Amino acid sequence: MIYARIAGTGSYLPGEPITNDDLVKRGVDTSDEWITARTGIRARHFAAPDTGSSELALVAARRAIEAAGCTVDDIDLVIVATSTPDFIFPSTATLVQAGLGIENNCAAFDVQAVCCGFVYALATAEKFIRSGSHRRALVIGAEVFSRLLDWTDRSTCVLFGDGAGAVVLEASDKPGVRAVALHADGSHHLVLWVPGHVSGGLVTGDPFLRMHGQTVFKLAVKVLEEVAHEVIDLAGVPQDSIDWLVPHQANIRIIQSTAKRLGLPMEKVVTTVDVHGNTSAASIPLALDCAIRDGRIRPGQRVMFEGIGGGVAWGAALIDF
Ligand code: UT7
Repeated sequence: MIYARIAGTGSYLPGEPITNDDLVKRGVDTSDEWITARTGIRARHFAAPDTGSSELALVAARRAIEAAGCTVDDIDLVIVATSTPDFIFPSTATLVQAGLGIENNCAAFDVQAVCCGFVYALATAEKFIRSGSHRRALVIGAEVFSRLLDWTDRSTCVLFGDGAGAVVLEASDKPGVRAVALHADGSHHLVLWVPGHVSGGLVTGDPFLRMHGQTVFKLAVKVLEEVAHEVIDLAGVPQDSIDWLVPHQANIRIIQSTAKRLGLPMEKVVTTVDVHGNTSAASIPLALDCAIRDGRIRPGQRVMFEGIGGGVAWGAALIDF
């Protein structure tokens, strides 16, 4: 039996932290008090205007490869989850492949499932590895959401940040990814979206992120509990065997609600939303890498990832380390 295990992680945050007060100084009609109380966010990072997702991804990828103790020549699959690619095409994954200098016996493509993108990408890579067609995948979440923010819309611009996280997922005879559950309901696509597109050399429509925050909040609390139970049932493991929850980092109140509904104390939940903001597809691998590097997540432990975002698309994965 071939399983897929996470062999190493890496992440990257561009520039210095931008605090809530920094946003006020930049002219956003908000306050540190409001942002902290409603979201738990205290700071986020923004990439320089000429830095693309692929550059953030590349740094995170190099760190993950080093942590996994392999070389770029061992990678035969690159999947990047992003909703803010450098270009419409080619994929960000091909740019990462070229940046790493990986030879052409490697498949590379992007996955677009917005804030749940990393879980979708991990699920995809796991299936490649379990099929035996590929042995070692780089799975990356990388975003420059700052490019999509309307600075006159205080209900969204204070929430997001830029960054990248990566894992090396490799074939193993020991179980790693125990179960994955993915869902989507496109009938909700208007609650969180960037309505614009490029056509005839022009941006047509609204090129900024728009969100009905309360609708997304209510949906998130409901489906994240359901999918967490689903993935536990699929894996056939006891609920109390979960050592860590590494959730998508959108709002501390959503994270606390999910943890409570799962009976998990907050000491078992990795939270980085306070210092990263919402980095969409990058948020789970960024949080994971923090908790591995500071020694909280250790070999032998069981970890749940879960996320929800535009689409809406949501999912969860249960991983043994
Ligand atoms: O990553 C994808 C998944 N996304 C999410 O999970 C996001 C889910 N939603 C949320 O996290 C929350 O709904 C938000 C943080 C976006 C908003 O929090 P809320 O408690 O739902 O606030 P609200 O939208 O109901 O707004 C409450 C008030 C409004 O003022 P009035 O109408 O009560 O006078 C807003 O105008 O807060 C005001 N407001 C702000 N005030 C200061 C909205 N944004 C701000 C702001 N600063 N940045």
